[in-house]
Amino acid sequence: KNIVILISGRGSNMEAVVRAAESQQWPARIAAVISNKPEAKGLEFARARGIPTAVVANKEYASRAEFDAALQEAIDRFEPDLVVLAGFMRILTAPFVQHYEGRMLNIHPSLLPLFPGLGTHQQALDAGEQEHGATVHFVTAELDHGPVVAQARVPVLPGDTEDTLSARVLAEEHKLYPHAVRLFVEDRLKIENGDVRILEDA
Ligand code: GRF
Repeated sequence: KNIVILISGRGSNMEAVVRAAESQQWPARIAAVISNKPEAKGLEFARARGIPTAVVANKEYASRAEFDAALQEAIDRFEPDLVVLAGFMRILTAPFVQHYEGRMLNIHPSLLPLFPGLGTHQQALDAGEQEHGATVHFVTAELDHGPVVAQARVPVLPGDTEDTLSARVLAEEHKLYPHAVRLFVEDRLKIENGDVRILEDA
């Protein structure tokens, strides 16, 4: 299977997926890493690994629709079976999302449906949550919604700040996302009536 990973910055989740695909010998290859920001740190890691990279800079496009059309073209050149959003910080248009329906995953740093959008760690602290975490979900037109594939939970500890809490969540993301992507490439995810069913290991 061909996987295309989209990033906007650091790319630590992308890195975790790339490493797992290699060390666990998935029936898949990382066909490309694509960024909307030329300066994204994660591009360096991908290049160093010999993974094809591309930049589609959103600021060069007059509208979201034009950007999404260019991005789709760049992605489809690699004939992806799966598109993995890994810290890709752009809201996507409905036609783009529909084009990749059932084959695009995102990771969001909260226990969805709690705290969609930005600033999730501070929101969890402000709400006095005792538990926080991350969610991998299929991407649908509504931001940070869509069928949930898997979640990871961490405790919120006394004295936590946005930094300590986000670091605890990120460490879990680096296990959760490879796990979820692997389920997809092994054909073990089925969407039924808007819910994800995970098929047993063969
Ligand atoms: C992660 O916390 C992810 O959940 C969120 O953005 C962050 C990206 O980090 N969507 P990285 O670029 O993968 O290091």
